[in-house]
Amino acid sequence: MQRIELLASLAMGSNSLLDLGCDHAYVLIEAIKKYDVKKGIASDISNGPLKMAKDSIIKSNLEDKIEIILSDGFKNINSYFDTCIIAGMGGLLIKDIIDAGLSKLDNKKLILEPNNKQYELRKYLNQNEFKIIDEYSILDQNKYYEIIVVIKEKEILSEFELKYGPILLKKRDEIFLNYYLNKYNFLNDIYKDITDPKLRNEKIELLNEYKSILEDNYGEKIHFKHN
Ligand SMILES: C[S@@+](CC[C@H](N)C(=O)[O-])C[C@H]1O[C@@H](n2cnc3c(N)ncnc32)[C@H](O)[C@@H]1O
Repeated sequence: MQRIELLASLAMGSNSLLDLGCDHAYVLIEAIKKYDVKKGIASDISNGPLKMAKDSIIKSNLEDKIEIILSDGFKNINSYFDTCIIAGMGGLLIKDIIDAGLSKLDNKKLILEPNNKQYELRKYLNQNEFKIIDEYSILDQNKYYEIIVVIKEKEILSEFELKYGPILLKKRDEIFLNYYLNKYNFLNDIYKDITDPKLRNEKIELLNEYKSILEDNYGEKIHFKHN
C-alpha cells in the first residue's frame, strides 16, 4: 500500500479529519472519497501549498466537505476535528507542533508520519501521556517510512520500545525486518574500519540491538563478523 493511501485508510470513519501540513491535500481527498471520512480541514503554514490544495479539492468536487485554513500548527484551528494527520515532516517539527497545540488534543486520534527522529518523537509522546495504539512500516518508491498512531492515554514503554517502536517490534513485519537487516549488514561491513574505541563500542551496541530484533525471524541471515 502506498503511503498516502495507508494514511488515508487509518482515518477510516472519522467525522472530521484535520490534515496539518496538507500540501496538495491528497490524503484528505483520498480519505473522504474512499474511507468514509465525513469532512475535513486542509491546513498548512504557507499559502503556496494551500493554493495547490484548493485546486485539488475543486478538481475532486469536494469544496463543500473540506475547509481550508492557513495556520502554523494548531494555532488557527478552531473548527471541530476528531482525527489529525501530521505527515511528511521531520520528527522534531511534528513534536513542536504537537507541543504547541497540546490544549487542543484531548480525545483526539493523531496519525503521525515523521520522516526522521522517530525515537525523539515517541519519547516526547510518551512523556506527555500519549499512547501508541498502532504502528506501520511501509516502503513507498523504495523509501522507508514509519507511521505512528496515538491517542491521549498514559503508557509505560522501555527505551528499546521508544527507539524501535513498541508495535513495530510486536508485528516484526517483512518491511521492518528487511530495513533492519540492511542496516545490520551495512554496519557489519563497515565496522572493521572504525578505529575510535568509543564509536566502535556504540556500533557494537547498535549491532547487538539490530541482532536482537532480527534473530528470531532472520537468525540464519545474520552473522556477526567481529567480536
Ligand atoms: C513535505 S510536505 C508533506 C505534505 C503531506 N502532509 C504529505 O505527507 O505528503 C510538508 C508540509 O508541511 C507544511 N508545514 C511545515 N511546517 C508547518 C507548520 N508549522 N504548520 C503547518 N504546516 C506546516 C509545509 O508547508 C508543507 O506543505
